[in-house]
Amino acid sequence: MMPRIGEHPGLVAATTAALLAVTLLCGCPPPAAPESGSPTVASTSGGQAPSDGVHASASVQEGSYGDRENGIPVGAYFGLTGAQAVFGQDSAKAMILALEEMEAADWNGGPSIHLILQDDRCKTEDVGLILNKLINDDEVVAVVGELASSLSLVGAPICQEEGVPMLSPSSTNPEVTKKGDFIFRTCFTDQQQGYACAKFAFENLEARRAAILYPGDNDYSVGLANDFTAAFGRLGGEIVLSQGWGKDQQDFSVELDRAKQQEPDVLFVPCYYDDSGQLASQARKRGLDIPIVGGDGWDSPDVDAIGKEATNNCFFANHYSKADESPIVQSFVKSYEKRWGEAPSAMAATAYDGVRILVQAIRSVSDPRDRLAVRDALAATSGFEGVTGTITIDEDRNATKSAVILELRDGEQTFVDTVQPDVP
Ligand code: PHE
Repeated sequence: MMPRIGEHPGLVAATTAALLAVTLLCGCPPPAAPESGSPTVASTSGGQAPSDGVHASASVQEGSYGDRENGIPVGAYFGLTGAQAVFGQDSAKAMILALEEMEAADWNGGPSIHLILQDDRCKTEDVGLILNKLINDDEVVAVVGELASSLSLVGAPICQEEGVPMLSPSSTNPEVTKKGDFIFRTCFTDQQQGYACAKFAFENLEARRAAILYPGDNDYSVGLANDFTAAFGRLGGEIVLSQGWGKDQQDFSVELDRAKQQEPDVLFVPCYYDDSGQLASQARKRGLDIPIVGGDGWDSPDVDAIGKEATNNCFFANHYSKADESPIVQSFVKSYEKRWGEAPSAMAATAYDGVRILVQAIRSVSDPRDRLAVRDALAATSGFEGVTGTITIDEDRNATKSAVILELRDGEQTFVDTVQPDVP
């Protein structure tokens, strides 16, 4: 019999610090440190929602999932630790859930999958080594990852060169899929997302003067700043300041003061969640109370935890809303919550769709280890009903999808609007 995914040693407990945090949150004794080979999740209740409603998250580590003995090898590379570990963790959890569901359905009579999950620590320098291992040692048929554009931009040329299909579930920078015909994404691009943010700012917030602040060393942020600039200008708005900040910068006072001088109606801040809460909080302290708009990088409960009430009057574009009442979304939200004891972020939703699209492609070919055949099958993806919308891969290996705009209100995400893609 196949081992259950949840019993694989790859999914082991987080650090002692995390266990301690769990203890503090729930007031119960710490779970015993896991032994190797024992079940696998560090949480108060083995992946179930804790009864007091506090979400003490489980933590996933790199390793093997699914059918290790006979499965078709599929690689994944995400930052499971490091600066944006929440993104990698959520993506990995959703992929594991998707595989568990397929396994429970006996792989629907198709080939089983062996997922080899690697942690790149959110560092570009780890990507080459990891892909080399996945491609040459594990002989994966395809790779899911990265989620952050800066890392996908490092991984894509390698996969292209090696002739291994790479599917990024959530890298939105347009350049990623331009690296070659083996590189796919199943999310919208920053052109679409930049347009969604600009349209929302211009029409819903009635903003005419926008100031943009962004981390200058992040490809995602730089690209999205440019795409917002183009779209906001097209709509008739004016960019009164576009200002990058430096690597690892935590104090945004100079940039915020410069922005304030320009009297903008809106701040556009395309960064990741680890900066956006800080920035919002520093903006409010300096009396900048105007709406702040961000992109999908804002999606994490940590934004509100860092930024607290400063994140009121903040909005961001995202891939889906967990409040969407469609049965496919609600069923995903329910199974994810049951499995992991927390609500799925957009990152989880995109990864869930991405891995299911890849497995569908692997299943549709006569030799599931044939990388070129899998590439062709991915390219032919059409009308896939996903949690993040209906996904059709176009000739540039991108997906055209609507974006949702969410508002942060007292730490809760509320749905505001859906923006259809700007297709000429
Ligand atoms: N779109 C971001 C990037 O390309 C990553 C991201 C996806 C962040 C989804 C949050 C949610 O870098």
